Amino acid sequence: MNARVQAIQADITTLQVDAIVNAANSSLLGGGGVDGAIHRAAGSELLHECRLLGGCQTGEAKRTRGYRLPASFIIHTVGPVWRGGDEGEPALLGACYHNALRVAAQSGARSIAFPSISTGIYGYPIEAAARLAVATVRDELAQYPEIDKVLFCCFSANDLAVYQQALAEQHG
Ligand code: AR6
Repeated sequence: MNARVQAIQADITTLQVDAIVNAANSSLLGGGGVDGAIHRAAGSELLHECRLLGGCQTGEAKRTRGYRLPASFIIHTVGPVWRGGDEGEPALLGACYHNALRVAAQSGARSIAFPSISTGIYGYPIEAAARLAVATVRDELAQYPEIDKVLFCCFSANDLAVYQQALAEQHG
């Protein structure tokens, strides 16, 4: 399968891509879930660089080096906490994908992997999040011909099935 946008099941810290995206919190100082896994795998120098960034607002994205990861860069973004869907959550989640792609492109990344932002500890329903992620990335990629691969890196088989469904529904 050689599609430009794909879903896979993997631990994002193992991926050989130019940039991985972290689903962080606004402190950028680490946490649980994928954020904890990325900090453990990258090593303590990552936390030192993150301390210099002064945090990150929900929907925004900031870049660090990848340190011990195979990826050259980590794009840290902060997804919205799910509060029922009427508090701007879809726009904020879309902004995460928009801003992370922009920062990745500015960094010269050609391949990027996203985790399923906000759908773990932050509680965003996976089906809605996957549809929004796929639609936003597909739309925005038209502006970035230099990006040739975007992976939706799912941690569970169930999440992978949801992303594959979203990719199939929105084909083209
Ligand atoms: N590789 C890929 N995906 C992973 C990995 C991994 N190694 N580990 C977990 N996931 P979450 P959020 C998946 O909770 O909902 C942190 O404490 C996980 O199964 O990591 O945006 C931050 O510091 C889920 O599908 O992020 C924030 O405080 C997805 O990653 C808060 O959690 C996102 O789950 C952010 O919550």
